[in-house]
Amino acid sequence: MSKILITSALPYINGVKHLGNLAGSMLPADVYARAMRLLGHDVLYICATDEHGTPAELAAQAEGMDVSDYCDKMHEAQKKAGAYFGLSYDYFGRSSSAATHKLTQAFALTLETNGLIEERVSQQVYSKADQRYLPDRYVEGTCPGCDFEGARGDQCDNCGKLLDPIDLINPYSAISGSKDVEVRDTNHLYLKQSAMSDKLRDWVKAADGWPPLAMSIALKWLDEGLRDRAITRDLSWGVSVVDADGNIREGFEGKVFYVWFDAPIAYIGATQDWAAQVPERDWESWWRTDKGADDVRYVQFMGKDNVAFHTLSFPVTLMGSGEPWKLVDQLKAFNWVTWYGGKFSTSQKRGVFMDQAREIAPSDYWRWHLMANAPEGNDAAFTWEEFQATINSDLANVLGNFVNRITKYTVGKFDGKVPDGGVAGEAEAWITSELQTRIPQLIAYYESREFRKAMAETRAIWAAGNEYLTQAAPWTHYKTDVDQAAIGTRYGLNLVVLFGIIAQPIIPDAAAKILDAMNIPHANRSWNFGGREGIAALLDALPRGLNITAPDVLFTKIEDDDVSAWSQSFGGQT
Ligand code: MF3
Ligand code: ZN
Repeated sequence: MSKILITSALPYINGVKHLGNLAGSMLPADVYARAMRLLGHDVLYICATDEHGTPAELAAQAEGMDVSDYCDKMHEAQKKAGAYFGLSYDYFGRSSSAATHKLTQAFALTLETNGLIEERVSQQVYSKADQRYLPDRYVEGTCPGCDFEGARGDQCDNCGKLLDPIDLINPYSAISGSKDVEVRDTNHLYLKQSAMSDKLRDWVKAADGWPPLAMSIALKWLDEGLRDRAITRDLSWGVSVVDADGNIREGFEGKVFYVWFDAPIAYIGATQDWAAQVPERDWESWWRTDKGADDVRYVQFMGKDNVAFHTLSFPVTLMGSGEPWKLVDQLKAFNWVTWYGGKFSTSQKRGVFMDQAREIAPSDYWRWHLMANAPEGNDAAFTWEEFQATINSDLANVLGNFVNRITKYTVGKFDGKVPDGGVAGEAEAWITSELQTRIPQLIAYYESREFRKAMAETRAIWAAGNEYLTQAAPWTHYKTDVDQAAIGTRYGLNLVVLFGIIAQPIIPDAAAKILDAMNIPHANRSWNFGGREGIAALLDALPRGLNITAPDVLFTKIEDDDVSAWSQSFGGQT
């Protein structure tokens, strides 16, 4: 058993997230957390809303709301949407919490003492009409890289290039639309990432739990040379910049830390907030290597655009402090889920959003589909037709039919009790050896966070159950040899239990329905399979005579009419 700290990249507060965000971080982190808990590990899964920066201010302004009220409202909305999808966070916090503010200010002071933060004159876009500086997304204009006209000050959405607002051609204010802007000098704090390059490179090279995608992104940035970056902005919403006495730093009135400086610190802040709820909880044992966190395995989940921040910027903050903070051990980065060839987009409201998904299909359907088609090696295209095909074949036909067939049969022929009698033969030997290979393989895929493979293995195990029933054919034997029918039924019922047990990380609602119908106590639902012998024993583990019921329909099929209705209301191809 080990202690596993799991974080998912923090969703921006600026709207309920779309299914692409869900599939590329929060959901796989959840599936992994659930699997690791079932394996008996001590898991802490932390997430939070990312509430600072221009995305928060702009979204609040678009709704005509005060930023702080807007964040309260959207935090609740995101929390609710996450609960619908069964995201089993140990804590879903907020980057705006007092704990994160304090930590952020403390990190900055320590980094400055260590010579890694320096105040420099910088050039910022100033809008005369708005009488303010325009950081990041407050400026829009033409991308110097690709000539796209709607590029934002921090990044071009068309070519992906990271930008500085002063790079934009024909800049204008995103607040008023005014073109009356000019570049002015003003002071900001700079984090001297360049000074940490060598140390970082050694650390990156020594990492062994990073997938090639993450490793290559980190090394590319290091090879191009890490640039020192401004970690403060001309904004009023965010973490204020203070001096050692806790007063606003001189010249930093109207400035706050850059959202990407405080957001990852919120992983720690949210852990502190989690710990503050219950006296026995101790945040330091998860984050301070001098206080017990040296035996924590820290696993991060994120979209690929977040990799540099997690492998370079945040480690600069942690290492640069010279304090014994826990650094990431393993990480998993995802590509994008695409929407009929295009992008999901929060700002353009294209795609399906987490709060709409509940009106379309049960959470398990989404969880299964998004994980079976996880954007792991490549982008993954979402289409309604694919959604229908995966659900109908994997869940309804393969798993649902199996459970339904054998439980109904037991109710009909064996009075709803696990039948006694019969001797194991060829079919039983076959399914036993099949599972002795496949279950360890399934666990290995979870441990290495290969989600598509884990889903494919799960499906293969379910399919093996159907194959077993075809071989054992209790219904054929019943008339001539009840004992022979009994063993096929009994093994079938034990398979139902096992299928429910392995389904838990992915489709927790259906799994619970199955295990409840089979009267399995919670204590017997873990992944304590106990090697080859244990797996063999599991196939005949149910006490004979145990009452079982047939669960209600587990999965209703998705009809062609549903697909056309959804295509119509949510766009996509019609
Ligand atoms: N909000 C960011 C995004 O959606 C992710 C922040 S992750 C953290 O891209 F590390 F900063 F917290
Ligand atoms: Zn561009």
